Amino acid sequence: MNTERTIIVAITGASGSLYAKELMKFLGKHLFLRMYVAVSDAGRIVYEIETGNSIERDVPENAELFSEKDFSAPFISGSCPFDAMVIVPCSMATLAAVAQGTGQNIIHRGADVCLKERRKLILVPRETPLSVVHLRNMLICAEIGAVVLPAMPGFYHHPRSVNDVVKFIVARILDHLEISHQMVAAWNPTVSV
Ligand SMILES: Cc1cc2nc3c(=O)[nH]c(=O)nc-3n(C[C@H](O)[C@H](O)[C@H](O)COP(=O)(O)O)c2cc1C
Repeated sequence: MNTERTIIVAITGASGSLYAKELMKFLGKHLFLRMYVAVSDAGRIVYEIETGNSIERDVPENAELFSEKDFSAPFISGSCPFDAMVIVPCSMATLAAVAQGTGQNIIHRGADVCLKERRKLILVPRETPLSVVHLRNMLICAEIGAVVLPAMPGFYHHPRSVNDVVKFIVARILDHLEISHQMVAAWNPTVSV
């Protein structure tokens, strides 16, 4: 299952930077992976607020970081053979841009490339409550081929810390990337509570 692959992690200005931080940390340990990290301007601000440090500090060595207007990023072209893109966390603004294919920054464009090249696109939206516009955009994204994986952690694994809650979502992202992990034990209904 784990062969050499290229994955894009895109970080936008929704709350939930810890999901991106944990995902980058996990993917950074896998030498079989090449990683590009794209961050929006708002994503940079929220990341610093929520993690207390700059994104530069958390980008692993096997990754290259691109700001939202850096159109030198290789993945803005379909000729770049990347395998999958995860937008985590995904703001409602970026969700709308993906749904409409506006392509105004490298994150929107990378998502557009994923969809046109039939590659895996995982969106991890975070907002509450959701307006009709948000729900419609999520439906459009699901219809056009993205995996909509909202940052809605479960609690049946009995999390003891914020990190356990974060890992629940990162584990689901890894499942959809088809990367094996042991972040959270798979649900086993025979285990007594
Ligand atoms: C502290 C903070 C938290 C935010 N949380 C959310 C959020 O959870 N969901 C969301 O859609 N937007 C959120 N926003 C607003 C977005 O950052 C804003 O809409 C921005 O334009 C998104 O741009 P981007 O998609 O290019 O990153 C938040 C902003 C700040 C400053």
